[in-house]
Amino acid sequence: MSKILRDAERYEEIMGTTVPEEKRPGFHLTARIGWMNDPNGFSYYKDRFHLFFQYYPYSCTWGPMYWGHAVTDDLLHWQYRPVALAPDCNADRDGCFSGTAINLPDGRHMLMYTGVANEFLPSGKKREVQSQCIAFGDGESYKKYPANPVLTHENIPAIYSRYDFRDPKIWRAEDGSFRSLIAACTITEQDGHLLLFSSPDGIRWKFEKTLIRNNGRFGKMWECPDLFELDGTQVLLISPQDMIPLEEVYYNGNGTVCLLGDYDAEAQSFDEKSHQPVDQGIDFYAPQTVLSPDGRRIMIGWMQNWDTIHVQMPDLPWFGQMNLPRELSVANGKLIQKPVREITSLRRNPIIQKDILFKNTIELPGVRGRQIDLDLEIEPESPDQLFEEFTVFFAQNSSEKETRFSFVRFNPKKSRLTIDRTFSGSRRGFVHQRSARVNHDHGKIRLRLILDRFSAEIFVNGGEQVLSMTLFTEQDADRISFHCDSSVRLSVEKYDLLKTETI
Ligand code: FRU
Repeated sequence: MSKILRDAERYEEIMGTTVPEEKRPGFHLTARIGWMNDPNGFSYYKDRFHLFFQYYPYSCTWGPMYWGHAVTDDLLHWQYRPVALAPDCNADRDGCFSGTAINLPDGRHMLMYTGVANEFLPSGKKREVQSQCIAFGDGESYKKYPANPVLTHENIPAIYSRYDFRDPKIWRAEDGSFRSLIAACTITEQDGHLLLFSSPDGIRWKFEKTLIRNNGRFGKMWECPDLFELDGTQVLLISPQDMIPLEEVYYNGNGTVCLLGDYDAEAQSFDEKSHQPVDQGIDFYAPQTVLSPDGRRIMIGWMQNWDTIHVQMPDLPWFGQMNLPRELSVANGKLIQKPVREITSLRRNPIIQKDILFKNTIELPGVRGRQIDLDLEIEPESPDQLFEEFTVFFAQNSSEKETRFSFVRFNPKKSRLTIDRTFSGSRRGFVHQRSARVNHDHGKIRLRLILDRFSAEIFVNGGEQVLSMTLFTEQDADRISFHCDSSVRLSVEKYDLLKTETI
């Protein structure tokens, strides 16, 4: 084991214990200590889920990347394992960037990731040269392949930049050989492409084909691809950088896009049929998926936004969290995302109230909290009298001086849902609000709100759409109230979400 890895292991072991439980989310994964970004190597190995992540233990800012490691049986109770990879060999001396994992037939766990080695231009400008590396392990510790890298820019057509060649998604083909899909960017147009590679053994790799080109549609470079079969169709997840907004569907900056289509393994082609955003909130990026033993496709993403990484809460010794894992399915040509069903095992103290008719503002006894699952069915008293706005205020306090609240607001006349954290306690001028067009039946809509101390995730109409955002609000701001400008019928199911060891 290198000194760099051993130092990090010792550091996280000591420092990780200094974080009190209430200073983390309850069931969303955060770094053991310091910085976390993308999920990596999401896999099911030796009877449990493994999740690695982009990690810099020594501060709450991005630094030379390590791979942190956590395991879980139920996707809610996470247990840290020792840091798995450190930037400690020539091919990755400036960072072990994102990648994926697979199980080998001989019982080993294999990681494929991007190694970064900086080079300096004559101007003095630093550029990250990116190549692909592998490592093997047993679920506990990992050894890098001594002859890394296994793929460099010399293996790809010269139109692609050596500074943007990263995030391998590895899988095994039907004949047992290996495939990898890797993000690349053309030098002249700065257009994101996904390149397909093959290998007989996971070690010797060969460029096959450019599988798909952005052609300037979704941002520029595409990061962190994932490709899998789901409900008879193929799903390609990509995370484009430098997006331009489009019709309340895609927003400025980094986004996530789901392409549905046909992947022809023989012809090595992807025939794209449709596209949709994965999360229309503020904080979501770089998701990965795993197939669970019971056949579910489960996705986890980084619940953050690259444009706001410098907005941090000074008293928290970690930065960045994963979103609540979601079960994916495809219905009527659309990706559907639901919170993993395991979440129901955390439900306590049910409050169920059906068909409450009200106008203006109500609060319901017991309906409050910052770690909750709140399922709402909302409909106008009569379908021909649509209200203007129905709002759920949450993470709300009672102080008149320092008002705190965030909200989700539904406007049926405009078919628009808005999330807002303007008054969440943030003192910086970044994006605090997002809106999305939503489906409803004459004003009838279902919203499910999951809060976990530092975040809110809103699932619309059983997972047709999801909007996620992080929150900055003091934990004692836990009131919830409902507001509507005209008469509305509301059904509420509310549960506290408590991990088993805290019960
Ligand atoms: C996406 C990303 C990846 C890269 C990693 C570096 O968020 O930029 O493309 O591998 O983060 O930390």
